[in-house]
Amino acid sequence: MFMKITFCCINTKPEPWLAGLRAALPQAQVELWQAGASPADYAVVWAPQQQFFDQQPQLKGIFNIGAGVDALLKLRLPPRAVVVRLEDAGMAVQMAEYVCQAVVRQFRDLETYAADVRAGQWTFYPPRQRDDFPVGVMGLGVLGARVAQALSAFEFPVNGWSRTAKALHGVRPFVGTAQFHDFLASSRVLVNLLPLTPETSNILNCDTLGRLLPGGYVINVARGAHLVDEDLLALLDSGHLAGATLDVFRTEPLPPAHPFWRHPKITITPHTSARTLRETSIAQIAGKLMALQRGESVAGLVDVGRGY
Ligand code: NAP
Ligand code: GLV
Repeated sequence: MFMKITFCCINTKPEPWLAGLRAALPQAQVELWQAGASPADYAVVWAPQQQFFDQQPQLKGIFNIGAGVDALLKLRLPPRAVVVRLEDAGMAVQMAEYVCQAVVRQFRDLETYAADVRAGQWTFYPPRQRDDFPVGVMGLGVLGARVAQALSAFEFPVNGWSRTAKALHGVRPFVGTAQFHDFLASSRVLVNLLPLTPETSNILNCDTLGRLLPGGYVINVARGAHLVDEDLLALLDSGHLAGATLDVFRTEPLPPAHPFWRHPKITITPHTSARTLRETSIAQIAGKLMALQRGESVAGLVDVGRGY
């Protein structure tokens, strides 16, 4: 059946995506969106402008080329369109390797050893006890579950927090607001893999981070607006937190004057912990689009009311 797909993704080179989508869906007409373009059936998007949806009210499906839909859900969406996000698509293993390297780097004092070596010093520090280094993973979805299991494979004690109950081998489960404080008080390292929703915005703040075991370490790989920047800085300066690895920021790129750039206890990366892999993503989108066309249900549908 003929269908038209429109592509509208900021900060994304369109040509390879258009070529890949055309190859995967030869029966479809795939076009780069331009203002005033004729109506399409489906859209492949990343952070489009409101004008895009205002001009495409007939869309049946919107495919987000990322896992997080927070930017998308700020817009007025076409009333009949289902929103489909990427599920894993090669991101889970990237996230697991990124988080494990940050946890291991802190656990094994590798930053300190690297500084000593640069200074020509051959020094040993006492090994930390693994049992003393429980890691709490906030969000046990597609990415959080993979991260929690990778950490468990390194034999760290792992706590997991989610909205609904999850049973994962090697992960101590904590559920909902009722168990949130217990989860925090049982964790020394906190990994954030929650979606950004009204409920989770600013969730990494003075009160919550202050509940971590002393010498805590924060790894934020979800969204910058989960973290209250000033609260993190205050807890690092007070010594309650030992450090942080941050991949996401309230404003991206991180403004040049932001204190995170130069803080000695903060490691930053430019929103790169889990990249969208084009070929895998196109294959996933094409498969789900064809299933929708056949009237079948697909996984990864966003619950717009819930916010993820
Ligand atoms: P997901 O599969 O939707 O998982 C979300 C998890 O968060 C679920 O376990 C959910 O609980 C839990 N959750 C949601 N709201 C909660 C609340 N109020 N309280 C407790 N738990 C809550 O999402 P995902 O694919 O793992 O992705 C997670 C996020 O990672 C994305 O939204 C995106 O922001 C971020 N991300 C970042 C990068 C990067 O490069 N830095 C790359 C990809 C994704 P239930 O299981 O009970 O529903
Ligand atoms: C990246 O941040 C994503 O949501 O996929």
